[in-house]
Amino acid sequence: MTLTTQVDKPLQGKHIVLGLSGGVACYKSAMLCRGLIKAGATVQVVMTESACQFISPVTMQALSNRQVFISQWDNAIPNNMAHINLSREADAIVIAPCSADLMAKLAQGHANDLLSLMCVARPAQKVPLLVAPAMNREMWEHPAVQRNARQLEQDGAIVLGVGQGDQACGETGDGRMLEPDELLHDIQKALTPPILKGQRWLITAGPTFEAIDPVRGITNRSSGKMGYSIAAAAQMAGAEVVLVSGPVALACPRHVQTIAIESAQDLLNACLPIAAGFDVFVACAAVADWRVANASDQKIKKEAGKALPSLEFTENPDILASVAQLEQAQNGQLFCVGFAAESENLQEHASAKRLRKKIPLLVGNIGPATFGKDENALLLIDDQGLEQLPLASKTQLAIQLIDAIQKRRNH
Ligand code: C5P
Repeated sequence: MTLTTQVDKPLQGKHIVLGLSGGVACYKSAMLCRGLIKAGATVQVVMTESACQFISPVTMQALSNRQVFISQWDNAIPNNMAHINLSREADAIVIAPCSADLMAKLAQGHANDLLSLMCVARPAQKVPLLVAPAMNREMWEHPAVQRNARQLEQDGAIVLGVGQGDQACGETGDGRMLEPDELLHDIQKALTPPILKGQRWLITAGPTFEAIDPVRGITNRSSGKMGYSIAAAAQMAGAEVVLVSGPVALACPRHVQTIAIESAQDLLNACLPIAAGFDVFVACAAVADWRVANASDQKIKKEAGKALPSLEFTENPDILASVAQLEQAQNGQLFCVGFAAESENLQEHASAKRLRKKIPLLVGNIGPATFGKDENALLLIDDQGLEQLPLASKTQLAIQLIDAIQKRRNH
């Protein structure tokens, strides 16, 4: 059996109207359009005349595979009401880039070109409006622009914020348009039911690294992908997420506070003092069972004739059991979820682990089959029995696991 699943299409079935106003960031909108389509969405591009100065409608048409709309007087449309038709069929309107001028128009309710007209005409309760500002840092800081951003939020738009760094004008600061990946995340979040709104989730992920000396150490093959997927999915569903992560080669999930640790002791020190303030604790980290008791302060040198180094081990603290114990002692509301990576007898080992750690839910997986991969299969064990989550991407499994946790918490 090969461990391959269908590519994730988190926006399958969604229709996004992508509006471009004038700004050099239009080049990023081409990538955004492509990203939306790869994520399964259909994309209808609407451009202002100014946007056409920065990127050709031909490019956007080729990428979206649809006619691009620019004018409200386009008589190719039978009823000549593009602003109504386009805004009624959309699941969301995303304006990227949104210029200072278009922000001002939207804040005022102006409607003298197709894009602004369509925004004013949108059924506001049904179709979210997302705005990705893009401009020079002085423009972004201008009180009028900031006032317009606040006004747009008060009127129900989602103002996505700006990036920070080098700008096309040569200056450095706030005002760049967010990157296509960041926009994709924020668009997906806007379209995800916020089932975890108001909740705080603490998640551990990745391996630990136990030092032998300042240059060597003992670790394991956890890539962190499962824990990072859970963190991203929980954030997407509206939770406030803190991720405590061992050394991994993954980008921090967007809008997730990530605390980097190395050893099991670091992990315990990071989690234990804060755990009581959370609603859910998901221990996905592959914590080393032992650390080196006689770790050296200096690099252990290889020398001819010298005896081989001999390592002594001592047991690491069990973070999950400690948090679960604290939880029981305080009789709080923290729901603890453990993971078990086994190489055989998954059900037997995982069931025993759940009882030993005294937690309500244990998630088993076959470690060697999933280490480093984008796919996994999970076995959920609680006091009612077993539930299988068959082979799927870790992103999809994270969404299913969040639902499973919610169901058990509401029980
Ligand atoms: O290592 P083990 O298979 O016992 O891990 C089961 C669960 O306990 C995992 O959720 C893991 O993150 C957690 N754990 C822990 N601290 C340890 C060992 C494991 O939190 N020292």
